[in-house]
Amino acid sequence: MLPRLLNRLPVYAAVLLAMAAVKPPVQGADESRLPILEKLIQDPSPKVRLEALRTLSKIPTARSAELALGSLNLPMDSTLDYALWLTINDLSEVWIDALKSGAWKAEGREKQLEFALRSIKPEQASRVLSQALASNPLTQDGRGPWIELIGTAGTERELRVLFEQILQKGFDDAAAARALKALADAQRLRKAKPSGSTIDLGRLLEGTSDSITIGALQLAAVWKDLGPHFPKLGQIASAPGTSPAVRSAAFQTLRAIGGAGAMETLSKLATESASSLARSQATAALAALDLNRAIDPAIALTKSLIDESEAVNFWRSLLPIKGAGKAIASALNGDPKAKVSAAAGRAGMRVAREGGRSDLELVTALALASGQASDSQRFNAELVNDLTTKANQKGDPSRGEFVYRRQDLACVTCHAIGGAGGKVGPDMTSIGASAPLDYLVESVVLPNVKIKEGFHSIVLTSRSGDEYTGTLAREDTQEVVLRNAAGLEQAVAKSDVASRVNGTLSLMPAGLLEPLNEQEQLDLFAFMSRLGKPGDFDASRGGVARRWHLNVFTHTDKQHGKDNDIWVKPWSDKMWMPIYSLVSGSLTQSLIQEAARRNVWVGTMAISAATELQLATPATVQFKLAGPGTELLIDGKVIGATGASSTALTAGNHRIVVRLDPRQIPAFIRLEASEGSFVLN
Ligand code: HEC
Repeated sequence: MLPRLLNRLPVYAAVLLAMAAVKPPVQGADESRLPILEKLIQDPSPKVRLEALRTLSKIPTARSAELALGSLNLPMDSTLDYALWLTINDLSEVWIDALKSGAWKAEGREKQLEFALRSIKPEQASRVLSQALASNPLTQDGRGPWIELIGTAGTERELRVLFEQILQKGFDDAAAARALKALADAQRLRKAKPSGSTIDLGRLLEGTSDSITIGALQLAAVWKDLGPHFPKLGQIASAPGTSPAVRSAAFQTLRAIGGAGAMETLSKLATESASSLARSQATAALAALDLNRAIDPAIALTKSLIDESEAVNFWRSLLPIKGAGKAIASALNGDPKAKVSAAAGRAGMRVAREGGRSDLELVTALALASGQASDSQRFNAELVNDLTTKANQKGDPSRGEFVYRRQDLACVTCHAIGGAGGKVGPDMTSIGASAPLDYLVESVVLPNVKIKEGFHSIVLTSRSGDEYTGTLAREDTQEVVLRNAAGLEQAVAKSDVASRVNGTLSLMPAGLLEPLNEQEQLDLFAFMSRLGKPGDFDASRGGVARRWHLNVFTHTDKQHGKDNDIWVKPWSDKMWMPIYSLVSGSLTQSLIQEAARRNVWVGTMAISAATELQLATPATVQFKLAGPGTELLIDGKVIGATGASSTALTAGNHRIVVRLDPRQIPAFIRLEASEGSFVLN
């Protein structure tokens, strides 16, 4: 058993235990050794002191306890600390007796007293404290270490005594503040609270002394129950005469207590309070409890704050709250008419970049909304330069392609690469070869700054009052066809058009990069910058399938006789899940799994990835299929497997299916055809 202990204990303690095992100390008094131990316990070597401590623990006399505690006057380390703790535990009863009889005096030894009280069992500490309180009640000025000791070691009984004395005004202001802090520490550090009801704490909130009010507020923040006194928090927070320190404490307490009552109070103060300082503090506290509810008052404040240092404080209390920066940014972005005061704008842009934070969306939104054109232009240029430099240095285009294809970003729904993808925005096939990186960064981060020719949005209002926004798809004498942000075409008869204006905003939403961390953003930019350049990201070469439709075939489908559906159901049927290959033409395992995510894999019999080849004239087509364990079928017939195969096809469209084993989805599949063209949409 000793070797096992050796692994776990600090070396000194282990040595000591070994020694004890070899020569067990004689139980009972060996007081003759005390004079030697008195010297050893003050020895410069910690090893010697350690040994002395453990020997003292076997000699249960008041003097042993005194000597042991005296070791606190020399430097301690964790091993010594632990040894002293053990020793005092062993000697606890003799020490308590010595304290009671006056043989051990606490005066001048506050540190030792505290150590001893924290070492012994709580009920022993409680005994010591109550005896001390009985013979020496706490004085008006709280002399001695007792207030703090009750805080660190008192049980509910002693804590009650302390609390009562505060309530009965038995302390002067300074001692009362100490006592309130001791009670708060007891709750905070050891979850210890006075016995009985504590809601009378609320009575102390009406005090005339700021230090007591603040102490009571901080205690209320940890006890969290003021009963009928709760409304006083709101009164203190909003009263014109309240000092700044008390006011902040009141808001912190409301925030700490939380719950419906606090939120009600805070949201009232956030909108109705006459002082802007109270409104900002209320808003920040509310944001911590319920971010959504704090957005409106926060936006109102960004308009009204005119003092820059007040604005800085507002942002500093608000932005550390998770999600606050992004939420404010999207509220500002969502309202094109949003105006932010110059002070709030400048302060926010500063705080948003402070202390390792980089709430870039907020900075951008504030720059645009604070109306200081030159400032925001300079800022935008900085932001774009910064991201451009970093993307050049650290961006990884291969990872970036997967970012680009994330469904939540929707890049693919609006943009096409190699013809595959949405048509709402410009085709991206060669964007990296034709546009510099900083242009790409700016287009994505600040889509409204420059809008690409031919992609300006148009806002049409019909006579019945409906509004349509989109880019112009077509127009003739009869009707205007817009393509909206979802890629859908909407035709409006010209006779029905009441007004037609050019939109000032891009159809590409701002803030798209919100869900991404910086590295993901840099990877995305790196990916776009490679598009169209020779290499893995050149989609200009045809002959490879890019647009796929995925189907998961289950036992249930089999039961319902749906074997043939993959050959007859149109691509628009819900059995198909649309999916695009990477620029290289590979349809990777992760893309397949992501597309098929909604389906239960249990009972899956086969996975089919389908695409379509169009031939203008009959031809013999060579296929090249990458991906082990796959099977190639065309128009219902098996044509080949992984590798090369060829078949004669008629002119027209042919449905091609690559069948996968659901238990062994290959790392990627890729299909090339020597003739014809794959249908992209
Ligand atoms: C709702 C549709 C939509 C979404 C989603 C969208 N865009 Fe756009 N994008 C557009 C439109 C429309 C334009 C052209 C207008 C403009 O320049 O702002 C555009 C322009 C761009 C441009 C500038 C192209 C040029 O030739 O000037 C880039 C780069 C770009 N988008 C990248 C992205 C990326 C990356 C994503 C995904 C994070 C994305 N877009 C998501 C619609 C969209």
